[in-house]
Amino acid sequence: MQSKLSGKQCPIDHDHESRAYASSWPDQYREMRSECPIAWSKNHGGYWVASRYRDIVAIAQASDVFRSNKTYDAENDVVKGGVLIPPGTSVRGLPIETDRPEWDSYRSFINRKFAPKASEVRRERVRHFTTEMIDRVIETGKLDFVHDLTGPVPAMATMELMGLPLEEWREHADAMHEIVFLPKESEEFGKALERFNWVYQRCAEEFRRYRELPEEDNLLSYFAHGQIDGRPVTEEEALGYALNILAGGVDTTTSLTTHTLVYLYENPEERERLIAEPELLPTAREELVRYFSPMHGIARNVVEDFDIGDVKMEAGDRVFLPWSSGNRDPEIFDEPEKIDLARFPNRHIAFGAGMHRCIGSFMARVMFEEMLTQILERMPDYKVDVSAAERYPSVGTINGWINMPATFTPGKKRLV
Ligand code: HEM
Repeated sequence: MQSKLSGKQCPIDHDHESRAYASSWPDQYREMRSECPIAWSKNHGGYWVASRYRDIVAIAQASDVFRSNKTYDAENDVVKGGVLIPPGTSVRGLPIETDRPEWDSYRSFINRKFAPKASEVRRERVRHFTTEMIDRVIETGKLDFVHDLTGPVPAMATMELMGLPLEEWREHADAMHEIVFLPKESEEFGKALERFNWVYQRCAEEFRRYRELPEEDNLLSYFAHGQIDGRPVTEEEALGYALNILAGGVDTTTSLTTHTLVYLYENPEERERLIAEPELLPTAREELVRYFSPMHGIARNVVEDFDIGDVKMEAGDRVFLPWSSGNRDPEIFDEPEKIDLARFPNRHIAFGAGMHRCIGSFMARVMFEEMLTQILERMPDYKVDVSAAERYPSVGTINGWINMPATFTPGKKRLV
């Protein structure tokens, strides 16, 4: 569809950090895709928002012009660039906040640790964590899905992958959740930063400890002993990796699984269908990740003037890419506002597009499948208390839930 207005003629009041966005984003993006596909928001210092699938993908693929790198000017305490609007912490996430050619080295160094086979090997442990967490509540008939299951399982699996002590999972996970969902201008964000700094410290201590030990099968140990382009990994690089992987690992799959549980509660015939036809799980999984787009969007930095359609972007501009809007674009998906558990093919961009496409997607799929399968087996009649459930106040980075109380018919433990 031809746009009626474009570029800076098309000012919008887009602020993915706001509470208004959290309740109205599907409508906002629907209107933008048809009226103002690439629009200008004056918030957070001004940035473009591309709402159509084809523009989002084109920008994500033009990684020589639309960059992710972040720099930190310590003297003036100013963060520039990076993938967050407004800019996040001073730590540069690796490989997410790097560009070519650096990115090639950083990504290839960790690629095989996240390959489908490596993620599949982790399935048994993910299943064990799920069984253990469900065992803790199965005889009581009640739980909070986020606190007791969908939060802990990805957090524990990520802690083990990283080589961090399992018993610290809650502190790490809470710090990473808060840093993501609290609006950066809010008072609480300051406290969340302190907790985030604690995570940073713990990763640094463990990295140094692994340096003194023979190599073990976890990422911090791999960083402590590995070489990138023929030289040892620095502590700063190890921490950049750790924070990117912890942020990816602890929040996104939690959000996907929690949204799915609400959807299946509100649509009991869909729950029955998944229980009766477990072979639907792979298409259902992709459809649910499309529809809920747990990572709503991400930013890029324009480094040279670039025309896209009749919009002229200039070097120094910033752009927000809402995967969530691309995933509901009727140009690509029939009836995009509807969940079709059998949708195939499904060219969703919930895991991104272009070279930064999610490295953890295979692991996310394993965690989602294990949690959902066991919930449907062991508490198939669960009921969610939606009125008591709380969403993240800000969903523009991660579209998640703070808590979700539920009840079910009690059952038996599996582990002795
Ligand atoms: C449903 C779950 C997940 C979703 C929806 C998701 C989404 C995404 C998206 C959209 C990107 C692209 C970012 C960009 O273009 O700048 C990304 C990158 C990334 N994700 Fe995920 N993610 C998920 C799970 C995970 C998990 C489980 C991990 C690790 C344990 C992880 C680690 C990463 C890393 C390290 C990157 C950066 C890749 C690069 O820059 O080359 N993600 N993710």
